[in-house]
Amino acid sequence: MRIFSGIKPSGDPTLGNYSGGFRQYAATQEMGDAYFCIVDLHAITVEYDPADLHERTLDLFAMLVATGLDPDRSTVFAQSHVTAHAEASWLLSAVTSYGQLGRMTQFKEKGSRQDFVSAALFNYPILMSGDILLYQADIVPIGDDQRQHLELARDVAERFNTRFGEVFTVPEGVYPEVGARIMDLQDPLGKMGKTGSSEQGTVRLLDAPDAIRRKFRTAVTDSGREVRRGPDKPGISNLIDIMSVATGTTPDAVEAEYGDAGYGAFKQAVGEAVVALLEPVQQRYAELRGDDGELLRLLGQGAEKARAASAPTLERMYEAMGFARLR
Ligand code: TYM
Repeated sequence: MRIFSGIKPSGDPTLGNYSGGFRQYAATQEMGDAYFCIVDLHAITVEYDPADLHERTLDLFAMLVATGLDPDRSTVFAQSHVTAHAEASWLLSAVTSYGQLGRMTQFKEKGSRQDFVSAALFNYPILMSGDILLYQADIVPIGDDQRQHLELARDVAERFNTRFGEVFTVPEGVYPEVGARIMDLQDPLGKMGKTGSSEQGTVRLLDAPDAIRRKFRTAVTDSGREVRRGPDKPGISNLIDIMSVATGTTPDAVEAEYGDAGYGAFKQAVGEAVVALLEPVQQRYAELRGDDGELLRLLGQGAEKARAASAPTLERMYEAMGFARLR
């Protein structure tokens, strides 16, 4: 079984990324041959600071290891270190529908927040398709917000296979049962994101314990007083999901335990559970982040393994598409 996922080094990672991303990476690496990519080429699709990109890449690598990836077992690498990604993206653009790209909600949302909308933002899902398809991934652990991109990657794979012959495995998305979409604590109808959500409603994995407690204490709740999930209770439903993710219990068990506790006490308990979840992660992160040399060595090791794994697929793509190859 081949596993692939990617995460962008833009903005400090959040509890949402933990729930749909990091947590699933650590779990799925046990299931087979796993590749986890720091997608730095994706980070340049919106306004960013070139002075930060290098550090953010190392930060994210350290966070991937601190949350449980074993860089000797899994292949953890940076996208720009493996040139096959940029090449695959161009080749796949020939079998990607312009109309479908224009319908991507992420493109429409992010595009509407920018003064300058780059062609790279429009092409983003093609690069992402290449990431996945180059590794012949069977499964892709992601959060709900990447569902539409994953569907596009499947369409691209199928169109290529039909037009040029069977080259790609058509990947399946894997979404967590609980916590596939963690919401902004201040606006539970909006997604908690690295960028775009409210600062006070966004829990960052490196937030100090007191900041985390404060964010939960001030989280928006709903009418009524019962701690239970429901479409009329987006704030409390989100907090129940977070409690379930932080403690590894089911939402039913959370409701059973806190149903009558009152919103104030429940919010405090969720804050403490998240602090307890993140404290050891922050400790490991601080240890790892102290040694740039070791992080770069591990990134180099990941790049080598990723190049070896992706090269045969890229070659098959060129051949299937009819390019003259030099041997
Ligand atoms: P990115 O960097 O925005 O997010 C990384 C992972 O975190 C998940 N996630 C969430 N899950 C639950 N609740 C939330 N509020 C939340 N916010 C983010 C995302 O779904 C994602 O799994 N386009 C991708 C990166 C990418 C990629 C790939 C992913 C590039 N190539 C190939 C998979 C396969 C992205 O921007 O993720």
